[in-house]
Amino acid sequence: MAVLVKAFGDKPWKDDEPLECVMVVPETSDTATFTFRAPSGAWFDYQPGQFVTLDLPVPGGNVQRTYTISSSPSRPLSISVTVKAQPGSVGGRWMIDHLRPGMRLKAFGPAGIFSFVRHEAPKYLFISAGSGITPVMSMTTWAWDSGEMPDIVFVHAARSPSEIIFRQRLEGMADRVPGLQLRFTVEDSDPFRTWHGYRGRLNQIMLGLMAPDYLEREVFCCGPEPFMQAVRDMLIALGFDMDHYHQESFGAPIRTEAEAPVLDDVVPDEDSAAQITFESSGVVAKCNETDTVLAVAKANGLNIPSGCTFGLCGTCKIRKTAGEVHMVHNGGITDEDIEEGYILACCSHPIGAVSVEV
Ligand code: FES
Repeated sequence: MAVLVKAFGDKPWKDDEPLECVMVVPETSDTATFTFRAPSGAWFDYQPGQFVTLDLPVPGGNVQRTYTISSSPSRPLSISVTVKAQPGSVGGRWMIDHLRPGMRLKAFGPAGIFSFVRHEAPKYLFISAGSGITPVMSMTTWAWDSGEMPDIVFVHAARSPSEIIFRQRLEGMADRVPGLQLRFTVEDSDPFRTWHGYRGRLNQIMLGLMAPDYLEREVFCCGPEPFMQAVRDMLIALGFDMDHYHQESFGAPIRTEAEAPVLDDVVPDEDSAAQITFESSGVVAKCNETDTVLAVAKANGLNIPSGCTFGLCGTCKIRKTAGEVHMVHNGGITDEDIEEGYILACCSHPIGAVSVEV
């Protein structure tokens, strides 16, 4: 235990501390895994499948980008994100070209509700495409590290065999236990490498061969939106009970009724005036109760870093020092943070007079 405390420190990481990049590992020709540690030695507490938002100093001004954590909280000394430089991407390209060990970045989170630990089930079906493999890799590592025999069918679609991220690590795990079944499908062959697995886009017949008992499995899906839409359409057509379907989305999340936020009884009124005092900046702004704190800050020339703008990523978390807000978030803030007085500026509406530390 003393060794663990010495290695990890006694407190989990909080996002007011920048992260230091400690390792960069190429995964495929345009994808790399970046590993970060907290300079203080703090350890990382999150659910497998959650994400962090990184503040990237790209030329022309900082941008915030959200990446799923590809490492597992069962290995809490560091966190990793695996980034693909998509054509035209700004953040991913900058990371692959410029982010090196020793550099520090501001980060926000972890946040997100896409995690199998929130939906315990005897059998899982993970379906991913491209870099959407990262959250299901985190969950698979967590299942593996838990020491219990997993029952996971892991379906992944890639353009070609060499673009299957984490292939060796997954095969290393699957070679040792029968309960982790890998099912890769690719669209094209590599010119100098034969491929004996599935070919073509995932379809109903293929799914039936890959996971004959798919109707009994809890499904977690992550990939580009058209891919997830195709998976949803396919499962609905096959009569799958969509209460057991979950998808990662950096758009507004699909919620089950049980996960829907509980609304309090204070509702913003568009005819009611409000006032926000931005204490550190010395700005007092008049607004309406239907304005968000983030919008009022921007309108007054103040910069609160933001990402998703709908309460998911946690980037816009600030501390409220007085007054009341109406906040409807999507999992981007913890109950502990709320108790400590934090709010998400993008989805908080001032009720009357409010003061914040900005
Ligand atoms: S910007 Fe993502 S939670 Fe506010």
